[in-house]
Amino acid sequence: MRHLSSPYGAIEVIPCGDPALLSILEIDATLDVFRSPDAQFAALLSIALDADGCVCFARLGHRLIGYATFHPPDAIERWSQGVVPGIVELGAIETSRLHRGRHLARHLLGAAVQTGRFEDKILIATLYQWHFDLDGTNLTAHAYRKLLERLYGSVGFEIMKTDDPEIMYYPGNSLMARIGARASSALKTEFDRLRWLETGRPR
Ligand SMILES: CC(C)(COP(=O)(O)OP(=O)(O)OC[C@H]1O[C@@H](n2cnc3c(N)ncnc32)[C@H](O)[C@@H]1OP(=O)(O)O)[C@@H](O)C(=O)NCCC(=O)NCCS
Repeated sequence: MRHLSSPYGAIEVIPCGDPALLSILEIDATLDVFRSPDAQFAALLSIALDADGCVCFARLGHRLIGYATFHPPDAIERWSQGVVPGIVELGAIETSRLHRGRHLARHLLGAAVQTGRFEDKILIATLYQWHFDLDGTNLTAHAYRKLLERLYGSVGFEIMKTDDPEIMYYPGNSLMARIGARASSALKTEFDRLRWLETGRPR
C-alpha cells in the first residue's frame, strides 16, 4: 500500500485490492470517462471479484478517486487467442479530475507492478484514440497519446509494432507491452505471433 499526501487529505493506493474494501467505497462523480460512475463501479467490482482480475485503486477516506484494472484480454481481441497463458491487459486507468497531474496514475501503475504478480506475464495496453479524454484535458490526440506512452513507460511498457488493423489503421492508436522479467520464452514467442497474425512476423 502507498500513502500519498494531497491538498484534500491523505490518499491510499491499494494494489490488487480486496473486493470487500472496494465495495464499501463511494465512487467519485468525475470518474465518468468510460461509462457512468455507477456502471464503472459495478465493472470494477466484477473485475476485482474475478480470480484472474486485479483492480488497483486509490481512496481518499471513503471516496474512490482512481483505479487501474488488469484482466485477461477480451475474448474478441486477438490477444486472447494465444495458446500460452500469461497475457494480461491493462484495461483502463482513470483518476478523478480533481486529482489529475499529481502523479496519482503513476502511483497506481507503480503499486500494481511492485506486487511482482506480473513478472511472469506480458502486460499489454491498447491505446485507442476514441478512449482519450480530449475534452477534459484540452490536449490534441497526439499529445494525449504521448502522455499515455510516458505514463505507461514509467513502469516499463514499451511501444510494440503490430499488424492488428484496429491499431495500425488509426495513427492515434498504439500498442504497448511490458514483458515481465520472468516471462518465459514460449510466452514471448506467442506474443510475437499474436502481434503479426495477419501478415506474419516481418524479417
Ligand atoms: C490519463 C490519466 C489516467 C492520467 O492521470 P493523472 O493522475 O493525471 O496522471 P499523472 O499525474 O500520473 O501524470 C502522468 C503524466 O501525464 C502528464 N499529464 C497528466 N495530465 C496532463 C495534462 N492535462 N496535460 C499535460 N500532461 C499531463 C503528467 O505531467 C505526467 O507526466 P510526467 O510524469 O512526465 O510529468 C487521466 O488523465 C485520466 O483519467 N484520463 C481519462 C481516462 C484515460 O484516458 N485513461 C487512459 C486510457 S485507458
